[in-house]
Amino acid sequence: MQALVIGSGGREHALAWKLLQSPQVTRIYCAPGNGGMQQLPRCQSVALAATDIEGLVRFATVQGIRLTVVGPELPLVQGIVDAFQAAGLPIFGPSRAAAQLEGSKLWAKQLMQEAGIPTARATGFAELSAAVAYLDSQSFPVVIKKDGLAAGKGVTVAQNREEAVQALEAALAKPGDQVLIEEFIPGQEVSVLALTDGQICVLLPPAQDYKRLGEGDTGPNTGGMGAHAPADHLVTPEGLARIQTQILDPTLEALQRRGIRYQGVIYAGLMITPSGDPYVLEYNCRFGDPEAQVILPLLENPLDEVLLACIEGRLAQIQLKWKPGYAACVVMAAPGYPDTYERGIPVSGLDAAATTGALVFHAGTRQAGKQLLSDGGRVLCLTGQGATLSEALRQAYAAVEQVQFPKAYYRSDIGSHALGPAVRRGVIPTP
Ligand code: AMP
Ligand code: GLY
Repeated sequence: MQALVIGSGGREHALAWKLLQSPQVTRIYCAPGNGGMQQLPRCQSVALAATDIEGLVRFATVQGIRLTVVGPELPLVQGIVDAFQAAGLPIFGPSRAAAQLEGSKLWAKQLMQEAGIPTARATGFAELSAAVAYLDSQSFPVVIKKDGLAAGKGVTVAQNREEAVQALEAALAKPGDQVLIEEFIPGQEVSVLALTDGQICVLLPPAQDYKRLGEGDTGPNTGGMGAHAPADHLVTPEGLARIQTQILDPTLEALQRRGIRYQGVIYAGLMITPSGDPYVLEYNCRFGDPEAQVILPLLENPLDEVLLACIEGRLAQIQLKWKPGYAACVVMAAPGYPDTYERGIPVSGLDAAATTGALVFHAGTRQAGKQLLSDGGRVLCLTGQGATLSEALRQAYAAVEQVQFPKAYYRSDIGSHALGPAVRRGVIPTP
């Protein structure tokens, strides 16, 4: 079987790598892919953008692609799944209607409120004056969320009125803009991803993403600077069962009540409060990046079988099997990320990095002749595995040490949410 992976980040590299381990998968095309995916055996990049829906449908039809997997949210929200289905092409991911779960924060909030899913209280506004007036009844910090896709930049946690007003002004700058003003929920964040075929959903091991740029969770939000799974220091098996019955099952039922069949990944971004209660902060309609780079290495099943079962509505027949132990990844980013960053920095030492046993996923690279160059904000993602989280982290950081990438930035405290603040450069405690 030939498969097509759409996207060009670390998540897509991990998807292609995992698909290639299946005996059924003979060849993978990636559109547009990156410098690392290109180097995978039996993998070929195709010069089509992830949002070139027409071009991708044509390509998949001509090539006879039997499984397409969509990495990023934008083509999903634009309706790539509907277009593939109309052409009779099997594709993993939610339809345009279903992808509103990520595409519109207001729509998702309404769905949660109707279904009684635990989430922060929030009110929607389209007018600045009404939104500013509402602030007077709120305590701080307060969370301002711009509606619609914002590539990780649409949320402000405002510490005071002035910051909140500024965020509201920015979020309501154009006619038609809408915003949510949301109660701040304290706690620790965890990403719980579920596979669904529209009828049932099956939860994947919870993962913890390190979203802030700086060590100790400081600085601006990023796409994610590292992750580890399973996040069992925060979510026990009982906690995960509760998340299924209180959050993911009701989400699927609420979609069904709207006449929407959701097939793909539902990613619930949760806050676990100090008393242990889970609240939904946001939904995403796809695998997380870098969560995929720590979840997929733990999966034993051939990925194509699992994804096809979702597409074909027979997920109940699949028993997911997980490797024991942990996976942890560290993202190496270009200087300047997440703002404007340099591109074209030479990157080498990846063979040496792989000798540590770590998985080397490319996030933003391109091949220029024999030379690999950085070509994005997040450039590499190194995933270590081990019987303990400490072992997995040691392997990931050992790989980082082997990479030659001038001025690379990475966090040296990935793992600290689970192992405590003692995790810092070169110090990984054994619990
Ligand atoms: P999101 O894009 O929805 O993931 O939001 C970005 C970040 O803002 C999250 O990762 C949280 O750290 C924070 N955040 C969002 N909503 C809330 C909330 N209601 N309470 C506290 N923090 C939040
Ligand atoms: N790691 C956060 C995301 O994929 O949205």
